[in-house]
Amino acid sequence: MAALTVGFFATIEAVSEDQTDGAQLVRQHCGSCHAVPMPDVLPNDTWPYLLDLMGLYFGYDDGRLLASIPGENVRRQLFDVDRYPDQPLLTRDEWVSIRDYYESSGGSDPVSPPPDGKPLTLFEPSMVFFDDPAPVTSLVQIDPSGTGFFLADARGQTLHTFDTRGQLVSSKSVPGIPVQMNMNQLILIGSLPPSNAALGAIAEWLPGEHDWQLVTKKMHRPVHAVNADFDLDGDEDILACEFGHYVGRIGLYERKNKTDFELHVISTEPGAVAARLLDRGDDKLPDVLVLNAQAREGIVLLRNRGNLQFDREVLLVKHPGFGYTDMHMMDLDGDGTDELLTVNGDNGDLPGPPLKAYHGLRIYKMLPGPMLEEQLFLPLQGAFRAAPGDFDGDGDIDIAAISFFPDPRSPEQGFVYFENKGDLNFSRKIFAEGSLAPWMTMGAGDVDNDGDLDLVLGSGFVRPQQTNRSSASADSRRLPAALLLRNKTMQHSSLQQED
Ligand code: HEC
Repeated sequence: MAALTVGFFATIEAVSEDQTDGAQLVRQHCGSCHAVPMPDVLPNDTWPYLLDLMGLYFGYDDGRLLASIPGENVRRQLFDVDRYPDQPLLTRDEWVSIRDYYESSGGSDPVSPPPDGKPLTLFEPSMVFFDDPAPVTSLVQIDPSGTGFFLADARGQTLHTFDTRGQLVSSKSVPGIPVQMNMNQLILIGSLPPSNAALGAIAEWLPGEHDWQLVTKKMHRPVHAVNADFDLDGDEDILACEFGHYVGRIGLYERKNKTDFELHVISTEPGAVAARLLDRGDDKLPDVLVLNAQAREGIVLLRNRGNLQFDREVLLVKHPGFGYTDMHMMDLDGDGTDELLTVNGDNGDLPGPPLKAYHGLRIYKMLPGPMLEEQLFLPLQGAFRAAPGDFDGDGDIDIAAISFFPDPRSPEQGFVYFENKGDLNFSRKIFAEGSLAPWMTMGAGDVDNDGDLDLVLGSGFVRPQQTNRSSASADSRRLPAALLLRNKTMQHSSLQQED
């Protein structure tokens, strides 16, 4: 397992120690698009499907994945068709040796169940519903004014406003599927499932207007964006992680005036999933840390050279099964400098999906250079989002985390509250409501303006089998669109205020 946590070159070295034909072929052919994966990154019974998929890049459709899809257009949206060769690139014998190298390796070790959690009593949970039998909540945003929260209903393309108790106040249709809200800006993903179609957009609510206006179009499944004055010309530009699928990019949208943006393509690598602004203090030009998923998983620093030119520096490389989903910067050990918190647990590409021992949260020290030094790993199967914050009000930063692909042996760990005990010790706390949904989105903030941080978890019933799950405490007829977690820390004083 050690090779999982090291970089690209170390992985290659580990493979080359085993000089079988299969190992040599893998080293030659599997590293052009991503780090060469060790056989123990996937369970034995997952390798055949994965090799069917990767085989397409070598001209072999053993699993008839492509052949079974009749329409060229659908193939183009779902697959990496432009990179599949017309003629096999390897002989059948060579391809069989590669398959054999992985398929006869035994795959990953059985994944141990997660550590037990202590009972979580800090929050008072209550379910929130949409008028939809299988809700997909693509966005959760707590209203900074402390009067409730917003949820986006991906299937209805609607933005709902809820009050502090989770009661619906109003609903408004939006021009797409929102996945992020930055003040008066909505990031619209276009297609929630992976797709190569460029249907994404950004909408802004401009002063004096009465509706959302699209200010960019034809984006490649944007999933996250940061606003900053990247060229120091006095207005805010947008850097968008256009995850895409096999086609994607990082797009910098230079603001020309209120509604006009000019696109500068910073990278044509798909899979950018989160961006964070980095203040390195030596100039005023904002740099950006980008978390990359899909094939070349890792962390990339975009150094701003001015004039909207960026140098790309890879800080961390992980194997392609890692499944990065989220990243934050926060002072987690209380030493006055920010640590980097990464989340990896996406498993959407594989049937099953398989358990992966390396899914979870990781905390890195950010050393000069910059260099990242891993400090702590908190395992969480299917980890999807983290929200750092001082939830219990004791002065240090705790971490709330959700899972979209929870371990079926401990479904309540779909939500885990990691309470900071100091010196990077975190106590794992859980409650039964964690199992109510596959959680896809999460927002933290003071929902009711009582002085403590609340949470809202958004569900994503996107796979048919998820809607059949039976859960003791779920409403027998309806599945929740969200779970409102009202923090009880300040309950006492707020009750007193109400008296
Ligand atoms: C031409 C590019 C390319 C080549 C060559 C390639 N891959 Fe991949 N691989 C990808 C992409 C893109 C993904 C992202 C997942 C997807 O297809 O959706 C991926 C994903 C993976 C994953 C992650 C699966 C998961 O989600 O857990 C594994 C493991 C993998 N590849 C193994 C291999 C092996 C083994 C080879 C050599 C036989 C190989 N790849 C060759 C492009 C490539």
